[in-house]
Amino acid sequence: VLDGLRHLEYRGYDSAGLAVLDRAGELQVRREVGKLANLSRLVDEAPVEGQIAIGHTRWATHGPPTQFNAHPHVSGGGLLAVVQNGIVENYHALRERLIGEGYVFTSDTDTEVIAHLVHLYYQNGSHGDLVDATRRALGDLRGPSAVVVVCRDHPDKLVAARLGNAGGVAVGYGEGEMLIASDIPALAPHTRRIAYLDDRQMAVLTANGADYFTLDGEPLVKDASRLEWDADAVDRGEFHHFMQKEIFEQGRSLTDTLRGRLDFVGGQVRLDSLNLSAEQVRTLEKITIVACGTSYFAGLVGKFLVERLARLPVEVDYASEFRYRQPIVNPQQLVLAITQSGETVDTLAALEEARRRGARTAAIVNATGSQAARVCDGIIAMQAGPEIGVASTKAFTASVVDLCLFALYMAQARGAVDETARRELLDALVRLPGQVGELLAEARQGDHYARLAARFGEFSNFLYLGRGIHYPIALEGALKLKEISYIHAEGYPAGEMKHGPIALIDGQTPTLVIAPRDSIYEKMVSQVEQVRARGGAVLAVAHAEDAQMRQLADAILPIPVTHELLTPVLSVIPLQILAYEVALHRGADVDQPRNLAKSVTVE
Ligand code: AGP
Repeated sequence: VLDGLRHLEYRGYDSAGLAVLDRAGELQVRREVGKLANLSRLVDEAPVEGQIAIGHTRWATHGPPTQFNAHPHVSGGGLLAVVQNGIVENYHALRERLIGEGYVFTSDTDTEVIAHLVHLYYQNGSHGDLVDATRRALGDLRGPSAVVVVCRDHPDKLVAARLGNAGGVAVGYGEGEMLIASDIPALAPHTRRIAYLDDRQMAVLTANGADYFTLDGEPLVKDASRLEWDADAVDRGEFHHFMQKEIFEQGRSLTDTLRGRLDFVGGQVRLDSLNLSAEQVRTLEKITIVACGTSYFAGLVGKFLVERLARLPVEVDYASEFRYRQPIVNPQQLVLAITQSGETVDTLAALEEARRRGARTAAIVNATGSQAARVCDGIIAMQAGPEIGVASTKAFTASVVDLCLFALYMAQARGAVDETARRELLDALVRLPGQVGELLAEARQGDHYARLAARFGEFSNFLYLGRGIHYPIALEGALKLKEISYIHAEGYPAGEMKHGPIALIDGQTPTLVIAPRDSIYEKMVSQVEQVRARGGAVLAVAHAEDAQMRQLADAILPIPVTHELLTPVLSVIPLQILAYEVALHRGADVDQPRNLAKSVTVE
């Protein structure tokens, strides 16, 4: 359990705990605030032996991070223990009802009501049937929940249930053991055979297998799927951080993203998993991309790609806005979600809203066992391997390449791009992973970025500027810096400088510009001159051979030349590395930045 929790640390947490059914059949609970090292110390001081156990890392929603608010929560004087992800939206009413039934609460969390509810039904009505008691308790909850229950009277089983979108629930089939976890990295070191719980489903695990039911008690048959990556994918290897590993494996991950999708003979892109025929493509009048954070910025790049190649209008919307906007959606629209985890609650809700209004849905998703992958009409897998670092890197570049493939696929179906243009882009796509690999190899050899971090890492504000297809890269670069080094960084369309941001420029606000030699290069040159004229330092992502920019800027973040539409995949990489080095320079916790979780599964 502790090893499993360590593999889930990246999801962010502020306290942790576990419960073990010991040899004497007693439930032993250990809980502690802070990092897992604190919990491990407790377990070392008071070791406990057992065949069945549950554990949890808590990201506080209701109630501050304290030992008493940490999960598991116990009821019935140590009869049973519960861990939960999600939110009990009606916990006030349930808490009052349970207090009325004589329960004494020892925490100020919403989760504790679940433990007492299971106990209440276990004692009254379920006649000691733990599965039935759990089912009834879940029936009283409003809001998303994923729970696991262990009970002293049933030393051979774990009962799990999923209600709504509270992050994944994955069942792992080990050798003579069964496992369950909210995310694959906790299971990968033990098994590659995984089954997933959907909304309103339960699993009863014993050492030899699992039985599945709906929350209405109907038996379910579930097959285990085979995990497409193995244990070392969730290991840092020779890197210091997962984020560093994931930045530097983008040459390989992009090779995997392209795998099986380029038909060189016909020069065609193949996206069978999108489940969208050429005829269906031709009926589409608009595409709406919904996503959050880094995935939203990838969507902004996607707008350029689809509109340029497929000549189809694209709207990009924050999922958290789309879901409440009463969006104008119809069957002639495709709503495309971009989500690495496939469990982001706002993105799932936006997909639900789109489906409710009759649109066709699809997802560009990395975790293919996730809820998003299951609810959409079709998917484009990122095929980037597990992304553990909270700051998304290889998933972003995989999303942009998937969006390029998607744009080409739409263009093919609509006859919207000529043969030469298509071949040119395909040739550039094939070369891209190699170029990324060279760029990363060069960055890893020198200390160019470490020196930039030492020189610019003490500033408190940064401005990131980009034009056209590079404007989203300015936004993404700013997000990378702010989320792992806690420096305030703002991305802006370069053309907006005169409409306000130029007031910010002084010697204390370095400006990062993305300025490859493309059709709007000259405008970026004048931008750089304006910033320099006001005493602002300029760091420029520019083509390595660009002597003019080397003259103009204080520092260059070099990239190779590629097709204009693919340059964002290259220009984001120096910004990822810079953010990483600045965070190191400032001693920040790169893989678990404060207040952040890898997958935002609760609102
Ligand atoms: C990006 O570095 C952040 N970790 C965050 O913005 C993330 O991109 C966002 O939460 C969306 O996650 P998803 O792609 O898993 O839906």
